[in-house]
Amino acid sequence: MKKRIALVGGGRMGGAMLRGWAPMADAFDLVVFEPFPSAEVIEIVTYNQWDLNPDPAQSATFDCVVLGIKPQLFVAVGDQTIKHLVGEATLVLSIMAGIGTAKIAEVLDATHVIRAMPNTPGQIGKGVTAYWNSPTIPAEAEALAVSLLRPLGTVEKLQSEKQMDAVTAVSGSGPAYVFLLAEAMAAAGEAEGLERGLAERLAWQTVIGAAALMEETGHNPQDLRRAVTSPEGTTAAATDALTAGGGIITLVRRAVEAAIHRSRQLGK
Ligand SMILES: NC(=O)c1ccc[n+]([C@@H]2O[C@H](COP(=O)([O-])OP(=O)(O)OC[C@H]3O[C@@H](n4cnc5c(N)ncnc54)[C@H](OP(=O)(O)O)[C@@H]3O)[C@@H](O)[C@H]2O)c1
Repeated sequence: MKKRIALVGGGRMGGAMLRGWAPMADAFDLVVFEPFPSAEVIEIVTYNQWDLNPDPAQSATFDCVVLGIKPQLFVAVGDQTIKHLVGEATLVLSIMAGIGTAKIAEVLDATHVIRAMPNTPGQIGKGVTAYWNSPTIPAEAEALAVSLLRPLGTVEKLQSEKQMDAVTAVSGSGPAYVFLLAEAMAAAGEAEGLERGLAERLAWQTVIGAAALMEETGHNPQDLRRAVTSPEGTTAAATDALTAGGGIITLVRRAVEAAIHRSRQLGK
């Protein structure tokens, strides 16, 4: 029997999931709740003969309800829309940052809640998503959740919900750290006399190429870094400057601690 899935919130992440689910259309009956659907969301829903914005109060409950709305909207949308979709056996799969499974279960009166943290490369299927579920979640529900997250990229299972703060700080916010490095490299190139556009192209493509090299060779970053660092060469001079007195290692550690602190504040 086809699984009945509801997606609440078809924005960047929700839209990316929807795009990824299209090839599995035969396995699902899908309903999307999204007040301002993009042309792409409308096209995917129409093509697959899925349903868009039916009256939630008239809707039967679903096998799985995926929450792709912003966390600050959760309580309001939970009361208006989501509660109608959730029954005793419904799996609620949340990708909302900062809101814990206990709060989600309480607001929706839900029994089964799985919480996941994707990141922005998920929009092109290159993300990494970590999820946590309590041991009481049926194996079949967990397998369904993993199959729904897979289109965003790789999927990792956590040992405890507490680890979600560290995940938020490392992979959730992580793409911004890499973008910042690309910005800093371009700014340094410009400061050393390169024309701005050229400095940006050199820096950005270096980040893209380095990530692709890591992916395609499967080598770890330490080995790849050592391979380009000859003793007393230019790269060694640069990485010595980056790590002097702790340098970038200490800074990234502090950045992750700051993100964890903020994640805990937001989750209260
Ligand atoms: N982006 C990330 O890197 C990232 C990473 C990890 C987790 N997340 C989590 O993923 C969730 C979605 O993030 P996003 O970046 O995809 O945000 P987004 O693009 O703003 O998507 C949220 C969507 O929910 C819709 N929405 C608002 N009210 C609704 C309602 N009453 N019923 C149904 N849908 C409604 C919004 O519509 P309108 O635009 O019309 O308001 C919007 O399209 C957030 O909880 C965020 O914490 C995001």
